[in-house]
Amino acid sequence: MCGIVGYTGGHQAAPILLDGLSRLEYRGYDSAGLAVRNGESLAEVVKATGKLYHLADKTDQGRSLIGTCGIGHTRWATHGDPSVTNAHPHVSGNCTGSGSGAVESDVVGVHNGIIENFAELKEKLLHHGYQFYSDTDTEVVVKLVDYYYKKYKIGPIDAITRTMVRVRGSYALALMFRDYPGEIFAARKDSPLIIGTADEAAYLASDVPAILKYTRQVYYIDNLQAARIAPGSVKFYDLNGDEVSLPLTEITWDAAAAEKGGYEHFMLKEIHEQPTAVRDTLNSLVKDGQIDLSATGLTDDVIGSLTQVDIVACGSAWHVGMAAQYVIEDLVKLPVRVELASEFRYRSIPMPGNTLVIVISQSGETADSLAALRVAKERGATTLAVVNVVGSTIAREADHVLYTLAGPEIAVATTKAYSAQLAALDVLAVQMAFLRGTVSGDQYTHLLEELATIPDKIRRVLEDKERLQWFSSKIVNAHDIFFIGRGLDYAISLEGSLKMKEISYIHSEAYAAGELKHGTISLIENNTLVIGVLTQSQLFEKTVSNMVECKSRGAYLMGITTNGNFAVEDSVNFTVYVPRTDEHFVSSLAVIPLQLLAYYTSVNRGLDVDKPRNLAKSVTVE
Ligand code: AGP
Repeated sequence: MCGIVGYTGGHQAAPILLDGLSRLEYRGYDSAGLAVRNGESLAEVVKATGKLYHLADKTDQGRSLIGTCGIGHTRWATHGDPSVTNAHPHVSGNCTGSGSGAVESDVVGVHNGIIENFAELKEKLLHHGYQFYSDTDTEVVVKLVDYYYKKYKIGPIDAITRTMVRVRGSYALALMFRDYPGEIFAARKDSPLIIGTADEAAYLASDVPAILKYTRQVYYIDNLQAARIAPGSVKFYDLNGDEVSLPLTEITWDAAAAEKGGYEHFMLKEIHEQPTAVRDTLNSLVKDGQIDLSATGLTDDVIGSLTQVDIVACGSAWHVGMAAQYVIEDLVKLPVRVELASEFRYRSIPMPGNTLVIVISQSGETADSLAALRVAKERGATTLAVVNVVGSTIAREADHVLYTLAGPEIAVATTKAYSAQLAALDVLAVQMAFLRGTVSGDQYTHLLEELATIPDKIRRVLEDKERLQWFSSKIVNAHDIFFIGRGLDYAISLEGSLKMKEISYIHSEAYAAGELKHGTISLIENNTLVIGVLTQSQLFEKTVSNMVECKSRGAYLMGITTNGNFAVEDSVNFTVYVPRTDEHFVSSLAVIPLQLLAYYTSVNRGLDVDKPRNLAKSVTVE
């Protein structure tokens, strides 16, 4: 969840670093800092807590830091509270105070991740005369690099690789050494890190938006690799310190794609990008009326031999799994388990032979999902990652990868990536069903034709946004909201509830509608809002009955159903309609009004829609 940037080239570094950090704010942080190489001393270090503008103000928008090589960091506190002392960069010297100012150390560095054995390493370093000014694991790892650098006098890369062998945990490190002016060294394990190159300059960042303004040519450092960057020069090394080569990736996003594009918030922009995100994802998987999964490497034989599908994820990605479960079971007739990654990773869950474990993750860096992926691989499952970030850790470690093409998603509350994942799993279900003979050729064609209509139908739902905006003004002071549904409608209720609570801070819960009478209905009071998702024709009347039970206890009812189902209005106070479509896929439409309702409610409550309190876009720590 921290953000790292680095620059070395012909321009003043600090303004570039601040600009890069500003494009990583979505990752969540509580302090920030810069270190800029300024001639003879190793670097000038400046740090500040709170929002990035405090650091910018402290450095006169970067102008007070002179130097053309530097590193920057936004910190999400894990070890040590959010403070200037604990903010990065950290230095190797036994300095007093916060580690700010012109530092005479030999090594200065920033870090994203968690060093799990930092306490024992700290003891070792204390024994060797090191002193510590902060509570962070990062200061330990910077000092450990310094320790090996001085003890073995073997150069930065060897000191770094020795450190990599010694530490346990996750890290993306960026380091500068006094003896190597103009150069930045990096190392990576499990936390994201990319290197960008341009004319006579080199960049380093946690994610693409930070450097997209300067270059499209990037390298994705692999796990347990180190890097050495200088103006116009980038080298990579393996754990043995041997030089290795990496493929250069061209980033196709345009700069605007990572900006708001004229919308008030990233979230609204991304809600409106869903037709494109779904269309692009579908088009990457369906060509000339035929599904082509060859890019994933999943062969027909593997799909044909499956006996079990496990879907593992967190948050909204887990909700995608909950929806996909119904679709796969119904079309493929395979047993499907959907597990929370944070639970799956510690369970002794039996894994029958020929199990496919699908890990869904927008960021591809969620720690629990990555850990669950590794557990699945250890237990011999075939693993498929469904991720939105090319080159992300989960993407690289899974046996197979299915990329969603939602583009960069900046708002913490996912929308377009969620919808793209839903579409991707729908396509996977149809292909599995066809290959295993549980749908006919005609059904296959029909299902693909229906899927192809989803992007335009989402666009039509978005045209109804003013009604949702109006209704959100009625619920702005709600204390509790209940989302209910059955089958796929229950899966959508889960997502609607999460969207509402994570950005409006209104307590809400999602319930399988049949569960209300088992306790929850005691919570229904006068004007409690109950939102029913009513798209499944075999089930929705039962849900309406559950809603009426709530209404008889004072609840206010909102319903989401398909065009033509007007009878719902006999019972429901406020109804939103979505276009009819094959009921396996109508979830992609029903979720849209719930996203909009949450968005407008958050806006009406004057909240930070894109960066809700306590949340981060990517939860890269446990
Ligand atoms: C969804 O709006 C939340 N931001 C959160 O639940 C998110 O879906 C979850 O943290 C999983 O993230 P991932 O898809 O990047 O793994």
